[in-house]
Amino acid sequence: MDRPLTVTTIGELRDRLAEHRAAGRTVGFVPTMGYLHEGHASLMRAAREHDDVVVVSVFVNPLQFGEGEDLDTYPRDLERDARVAAAEGVDLLFVPPVEEMYPEPVLTTVSVAKVSEPMEGAARPGHFDGVATVVAKLFNIVGPCRAYFGAKDFQQLAVVRRMVRDLSFPVEVVGCPTVRELDGLAMSSRNAYLTPEQREAAPVIYRALRAGAAAIAAGERDPQAVRELVAGIIEAEPLAELDYVEVVDADSLATPETLQGNLRLLAAVRFGRARLIDNVGVTV
Ligand code: PAF
Repeated sequence: MDRPLTVTTIGELRDRLAEHRAAGRTVGFVPTMGYLHEGHASLMRAAREHDDVVVVSVFVNPLQFGEGEDLDTYPRDLERDARVAAAEGVDLLFVPPVEEMYPEPVLTTVSVAKVSEPMEGAARPGHFDGVATVVAKLFNIVGPCRAYFGAKDFQQLAVVRRMVRDLSFPVEVVGCPTVRELDGLAMSSRNAYLTPEQREAAPVIYRALRAGAAAIAAGERDPQAVRELVAGIIEAEPLAELDYVEVVDADSLATPETLQGNLRLLAAVRFGRARLIDNVGVTV
């Protein structure tokens, strides 16, 4: 069979997967918005390693973009995506048109309280409802599977995990490490927006987060002191405009009064029209 097989309808994807399941094969699913990079490729490789059939969806989900965000300009290159998927041995590429996913106005949405609320949820109202709704829909289309998500979108991973637990989806969510450029910048489709000067400046996010993690490892227990340290490093970069920096409990995403246990430092930073997010973990 020519791989990947591109499928554009929900019905055909379900039929193809039903055949594989009838033959006893497990399904690995990598949901994406396309413009695939090495980060996505690493998720496909993880799926390829653990599952018999690998499905990748490419769908720029309008529900998760707010007013004035980059829905219309979000980078798209389906031919290249198909080549990346082919190189990783993907079996099925699910590329539904918007009308296939949302043939009528959506009246039913999924909203995950608490974990959706801080950080990205506060900066991008409605974003995680859009993510949870499309991921729920994709899970219902793909069916029982292992689903692979990158830790770069740490809060998204937490939202999806919680949704799967609360709503008993027959899905095992697998979080995979962030893939970085050689200078530390987390890979993201939105890096395509960076000018050469912004691209050179952008690794400051990871440097700053690591400095925060190092301070915690060295004994700092005050979240405000860590936030100020990380913010200071980012704000010293003239091309960077800090949106937020937080240090939270890695499971609840709540800010502890004293830093202890499994922690995550997260930041969102604008470089011109690119809004980039990143995070690192540290355990006390
Ligand atoms: O991380 C993404 O690319 C998207 O948020 C996802 C999970 C594919 C849902 O549209």
